[in-house]
Parts: sequence; C-alpha cells; structure tokens
Amino acid sequence: MATTHIGRPVSRVDGRAKVTGEARYAAEHRAPDLAYGHVVSSAVARGRIASIDASEALALPGVLHVFTHENAPRLPRSARSYRDEVAPEGSPFRPLGDAEIRYSGQPVALVVAETFELARHAAALVRVDYIREEPRTDLDRERPAAYQPEYRFPPPRPRGDAAHALAAAAVRVEAEYRVPAEHHNPMESFAATVVRHDDGALTVYDKTQGVLNVRDYLVRVFGHGKDELRVVSPFVGGAFGSGLRPQYHVFLAVLAARELHRSVRVSMTRQQMFTFGHRPATWQRVQLGASADGTLRALVHEAIAETSRFEDFTESVVDWSGMLYRCDNVAFDHKLAKLDVYTPMDMRAPGACWGVYALECAMDELAARLGMDPIELRLKNYAEKHQNEDAPFSSKELRACYRQGAERFGWARRNPEPRSMRAGPALVGWGMATGVWEAMQQPASARAVVTADGRLTVSSATADIGTGTYTVMTQIAAETLGLPIEDVEFQLGDSTLPKSPIEGGSWTVSSVGSAVKAACDKVGKRLFTLARTLDGSPLAATRLADVVFEGGHIRSRLDGERAVSLTDVMRHGRVESVDEQATVRPAKKHENYAMNSHSAVFAEVQVDEELGTVRVTRVVSAVAGGRVINPTTARSQIVGSIVGGIGMALEEESVLDHAFGRFMTHNLADYHIPVHADVHDIDVIFVDEHDEIVNPLGAKGLGELGIVGVAPAIANAVYHATGRRVRDLPITLDKLLRAL
Ligand code: MOS
Repeated sequence: MATTHIGRPVSRVDGRAKVTGEARYAAEHRAPDLAYGHVVSSAVARGRIASIDASEALALPGVLHVFTHENAPRLPRSARSYRDEVAPEGSPFRPLGDAEIRYSGQPVALVVAETFELARHAAALVRVDYIREEPRTDLDRERPAAYQPEYRFPPPRPRGDAAHALAAAAVRVEAEYRVPAEHHNPMESFAATVVRHDDGALTVYDKTQGVLNVRDYLVRVFGHGKDELRVVSPFVGGAFGSGLRPQYHVFLAVLAARELHRSVRVSMTRQQMFTFGHRPATWQRVQLGASADGTLRALVHEAIAETSRFEDFTESVVDWSGMLYRCDNVAFDHKLAKLDVYTPMDMRAPGACWGVYALECAMDELAARLGMDPIELRLKNYAEKHQNEDAPFSSKELRACYRQGAERFGWARRNPEPRSMRAGPALVGWGMATGVWEAMQQPASARAVVTADGRLTVSSATADIGTGTYTVMTQIAAETLGLPIEDVEFQLGDSTLPKSPIEGGSWTVSSVGSAVKAACDKVGKRLFTLARTLDGSPLAATRLADVVFEGGHIRSRLDGERAVSLTDVMRHGRVESVDEQATVRPAKKHENYAMNSHSAVFAEVQVDEELGTVRVTRVVSAVAGGRVINPTTARSQIVGSIVGGIGMALEEESVLDHAFGRFMTHNLADYHIPVHADVHDIDVIFVDEHDEIVNPLGAKGLGELGIVGVAPAIANAVYHATGRRVRDLPITLDKLLRAL
C-alpha cells in the first residue's frame, strides 16, 4: 500500500518542545501558593513505628504540617479501593495507612512546607522510633517456602512426559540461572503537582503511564467525583513500566492538598526512586533434552521469583519456553517467595527478559554440547504454530530475522570453538539469541475533530513515555485523512480525553493507533458524505470505496481530476467542524491466532582476560514486529532496548543488604547502567512482516521486544570468548575472573 506518512522517518513532533524546555514535566507545572511536600522514608525494613516526633520540624517557621499514620485522614478500609487497573492479587500498600513497616524506604511521614528546601530540611528533623524486626530479603534463603499464587496468566500446561523424555534423551543440559532485582531508573523522578482550584476540584499533574488509572485510583481512595479530579501527564521522562501503577507520591500530594486546602507538590529524590516497584529477582532452572540431531525431546523450565508480603506479583517467565520451540514433552513451574520488599512491578518486557534469558542461554549450552550451530539448533526446532495455544501465528518472520541478522553480523565467519577468536590481546566472542514478545491489543477510544481551517486534532488519554506516541499517532491520523503532518495535532495524557488503556505491554500503537485510525475514518466518511451532496460536486456519483484522502483533498481513485478540498467541503457545506469518536476492540478473529513479535539478536564481545572486563563491541538485532509506522522512532525503541539489554547482561543490579533489608545501590553512581563508553556499534534491521490479522495497521508494537534476547546473546558471546559460563547476571568482572 502506498503511503504518505506511515512508514516514513518523521521527526518527533514533540521534539522541539522537549529540546527547548517548553515541555513541562510533572514537577514543573506552576500553581499559585504552591506548598512542597517531602517524604520521610523508613530506615528499617520490617517492624512497627513506635513513635514519631515531629515537634522540631513543626517548630520551623514555614513548615505547614507533618502527615503521619497517626494524623492521616480516614480513608476507605477495603483493599479493593486501593487496587488500580494493573494491581496484582493482594492488598495494595497504603501510604500512612498504619504503623506497620513492610519494607525499607516505606514512606512514614510527609512534611509540607512553604518551600522545597524547607520541607526537605524539616523532613530530616522528624524523629521516628521503630520496633525493629529481622527483615527477610534473601530470595535464595526464602526459596524453600515458595508457593503457587493466583496468576495473572498461569504458566502453560505440561505436554507429554517431560521427565521420561529427559531421562531418555541422548544429550541433556541442566542449568540454574540467577537474576537480580533491577530498578527502572527513568531520568525523570516521580513527582506530582496537585493544583487545588477554589471550588475544591483538583488538577493533578503526575508522572504516569496511565492518567485514567491514576484518576480512578484517586477517585476511589479519596471519594472525589470524576469531574472534580483531573489527571494530566503530557510528558513523561522515561518510565519503563515504573509508571504503570499510581505511586505513593501522588497519593500523598493529593492527601495534603485536600487537607491543607492548598496546591501541593511532592517529588521523589533519586534514592526514593528505589522505594517502590522493581523487576523481581528470580531463580530459574532449565532442563533440555535432545536427540543427537538436535531435535528437542524434553524441556522443563522452573522459576521462583520474589514478591512482597502484601501482593502476589506474577509475570510470564516460563511461558516463552513453551511457545518458542517445537517440543512434545514440556513441563513448567512458576512460584513466588515472599520477601520484606515492596511489590515488584512490570519493567520493560516483564517476565520475558528473565525467562528468555534462561531459555536462550540453555539453548546455547545445548548447541555447544551437540556441536551444532546455535542458529541451526533453533531452526531445527522452529515452531510453525504457537505451541502453548496450538494456534497459527498471525505472522512470524523469525526465520528471516535469523537469516538477515546472521548475514549482517557476519555469523558465517564465526569459529565455533570457544576462545578461538582474538582481537589483539582481547578474547572475542560471538553469541546470538532469540527475542520474543506479545502483540497485544486492548480496547481504546480516540476522538478526531477537523475544523474549517483544515486542521485536525486527534486525542486519546494515552501516554508518551519517550516512545514516540505523539509522533506515530500524528502520522496515522495524517495518513488517514490525507493531511500534512503540520496540520495535525495529537493530544494525550489527560484524563478528560477518550478512554485508553495504560501505556504498556507494547500495545499502544495497535490499541490507540487503531482507535485513531477509526475516528479519522469516521470523520472522513462524514466529510465525503458532505462532499457528495454539495451543488455540482465532482464526487456526486462516486462511492466512498473509490475515493482517497490525499493532499488535503478527497479524490476519486478512478478519475484523479475529480477532487474537492476538505476546506471547501466544510465551507460550502457550512460546517465549522466535524467531530467523531471511535472505540476499537480486538477483532473476534484474534481468538484463532497467536500474535507475537520476534527478533534475532547477535552480539560481539571483547573480554580482557587479565581484568575480566567485557565490552559489547557490536550488536545486530533483526526485528519482526509487523509494519513499522516510523523507522526513526522504531529504531530508537530497539536501540534503547539494546542498551538496556547491555545493562541487564553486564551492569544492572539492585543490591540488597540483607542485614538491613535495603537496596544499597540506590543512586546512579552505585546502580550501574550503560553509559556512552559502554555502547558501541548497534545495528537494527526491520524484517518485512505483513500481518492483516493483528490490527488494521498491521503493526505489532516495539516498546519491549527489543530488550528480550539481548542479555542471553551477550552471555552466550562471553561463553564463546572465554569458554566459561557465568549464569548469574550481571556478568561482572569478579564473577568472570573467578570463572577464568
Ligand atoms: Mo511496560 S513494562 O508494560 O511499561
């Protein structure tokens, strides 16, 4: 299909606002008479608050109030009131709800003052006495007590007889993999500026991936009317999943604004960014059995992940092992172990990051044992159907990913022997892995309004967390009605806009994009109807199916001379605007298909044998994610994901001191993420993938796929370089030196 805007590398439409500082983030919105709240965080991980003495803080002129569990207003008691749209099973944490300490860094007081500096200083003067209990935060120690929770999505059912097939297999691999807790670490820390209007209504500028999720949560908790509380979040400085649930800062800011009858801002410090959800530390064991020719005969994948005492956070960890390769004898297990930590949270490609890491490393171990090329092994067991669902894929171009990725990387020149390749003094390793994610769609609504000046405004209550939502929605709208990009504006991040799901799961393009297209199609249909009925209309005898919207005109496909401009249609038809709303739900035919995106990731590392340092010198990722709406923003998603994957493989770890039950790496000096010096050549290939089932746009979403498969490709490259397997992430030099 010929397109004008879709598939083009349109620059970010919000780019100018961002680089000029015009774009306001949650802590930058202004309000008259604004007060500032600062959170006091618990110094212990488990126990009770014995007493809080705020007298010294309150004695300072300009300190307005110190909220604690002792003086917080009465709020609903039922757990249900606190459960947001994506809350896991359990009873959500309630800030200042009682005296119990459930995790280190838990907010125990909010100091509100006339200035930020004063609030922060006064917070240091609040004395909290605790009755301490021994925290238990070591997953390895708590694993024996693991249990089966209520799952969001239960692990796949077993097939065949895995134990028997494993015992009978010619070649076997069994390995345990450990991955640590990780924090999202977006650039923008969490903040909310709550503007209180004279009538008591609140406008809440919050950092969030879901304005409606936050709005509904606050409405339930505080008993506001929906029209008295508006949540606005036009710009988000990164989130990676951390903004999917309402965080405590917004709860506390709203609480303070209501009680003090003032506008209040609460922002978290970088340290406090480590005092809520994280990617859960997870233990895994993978057992593979194969025949001598590499046919998978048995696959067993078990996982035990941490969760908090108060909620059961589950993610799909082992599921990918059930769907990715053809295997008749499989068994899965996924359990949780409770720790004295905050509930883990979705973090970019939740579950898949960890599960596919273990599977793809085990596949590499199997390939090495079989003396088989890692790509050959994967092709040998290529799944034409989704194995868990026994359903055909709506599309799956993973073979092309392997082929094109391998070619670009130069895989054919790889000497399979470990420690066989060198660059000067460094050991060189080449590794690969498969990536996979889901192509999901949620019900979503959008509104499109075209005005007599020919301008189009489209809106939906979704978010742009840096992914490019503003831009791609603008492209979809401009394409549908044949307008230049400059004449189209997309609005998002406002709870008064048409309903959208949280921006997560990589489903925004397929969900909101489909709604945008549908709303614009409705506008187009109305304009066409109007155009046909105008006096002497050149389109009088033309059918809707025979017109195109292009260059600001409605034009006959059959006779290009027959055209009328949108502005003329509106002027002659005497309408000021055409305004349509549409809601799109996943198509019924989805039930018959499996919908996934795939990738093949290739990594080159150079390992210094003396120092144990690892540099990722090259990554090639070949991605099959359906139609690419914008190659520039799409590439940025994959490149950013690969950088995240380098962090996952080599650097990222939220280190818990189990004596204190506290994350000690709670700043960007100690929590290591890749910097420029860690990132070298990254090459992204988008493989052609045509999909007419997934949604009307044919796009699968790219926010998460790109990180899956990167860590195992790097880990496999480290093995190839050194002949040693380090199965505990991150692969730091101490572990590698021990292995070397
Ligand atoms: Mo994503 S972890 O669903 O923001």
